[in-house]
Amino acid sequence: MGLTDFKNRGWVKFKAEKSMLRWQKYVQPIAEEISFDPKQKREWLRHGNTWFAGVNILKNDKDGRFNGGPRLEGTVVQFLTDLHGPLALDHGQLSIIYPGYPIFDGSESEAAHRYRSARDGAHVDGILPIGPDRRRFVQEPHQYVLGIPLVEASSDASPMVIWEGSHHIIREAFRCAFKDKPMSDWLKIDVTEAYHKARKRCFEKCRRVAIYAQSGESYVIHRLALHGISPWNKKAKAPDCGRMIAYFRPEGRAGDLGDWLNGY
Ligand SMILES: [Fe+2]
Repeated sequence: MGLTDFKNRGWVKFKAEKSMLRWQKYVQPIAEEISFDPKQKREWLRHGNTWFAGVNILKNDKDGRFNGGPRLEGTVVQFLTDLHGPLALDHGQLSIIYPGYPIFDGSESEAAHRYRSARDGAHVDGILPIGPDRRRFVQEPHQYVLGIPLVEASSDASPMVIWEGSHHIIREAFRCAFKDKPMSDWLKIDVTEAYHKARKRCFEKCRRVAIYAQSGESYVIHRLALHGISPWNKKAKAPDCGRMIAYFRPEGRAGDLGDWLNGY
C-alpha cells in the first residue's frame, strides 16, 4: 500500500517501525495520566463514560514531540511530508474507547444514538453542525487524519472504520455545492443537503472497512473520507486504560481551500 492506494481507497496503513514504537512507549504514560485526571474526565467523557474524546488535549509540538521526548519519524512522516510539506502537527486528540461504547445517556437524541450504533457515527471531519438547526458548514479544513494506536487491543475493540473510496463521492458533492462560488465564500455555504446526500451514497456504494492497527503501526485517512468508530464488541479485549489512539488533524494553509477540495 502506498500513495496509489491512498488516492484510490482514501486510507493507508503503515507497518510497525522501531521509531514509532519508541514514540508510542514515550507518549502512552503521558496519555494515561491525562485520562485518569478527574478534571479531564469531567470535561471529555461522553456516552455513559465509554468515550474519552480528548480533542487537542495532547501538548505535542509540530514534530510530535512531548517535553523533549522523541519526534515522530519513519515512513508515515515521509509519506505526509511528500504530500503536504514538513510536518506541522496540531495538538493531538487523545481518543479512548471503553467497554460498552456507545452507551445511551440522553446527551444526544435517540436518532443520533441509533446512527452512532448502526452507522458507527459516520462523518467527515470538520463539516460541523452549527446553531439550533444544526446546519452543516465546512469549519475545519484539515490536511489529513493521522491515527497512532497507543495500546494493544483486539480488532473488535471499537476500531476506526472507513468507507473506502468515499472521499471521491464527498469531493464531488462539495465541488457541486461550491460550483461558481468564490472560494472566499465556501466556509459560509450551507452544505447540509449535499453532505447528507453524499453520505447516503457512500453507504450504498462504498465498502465499510475496519482499520486495525497495533503497536508501532499508524494510518492516514483522507480528510474527505467518511469514517467513524465501530461499537465495542462484548468479547473485545483492551488494557484497563482503554483502547487508546492519538489522532492528528493539522489544518492546511489558511485560505487554501482549493487544495483541501482537490488535492491529496
Ligand atoms: Fe473523525
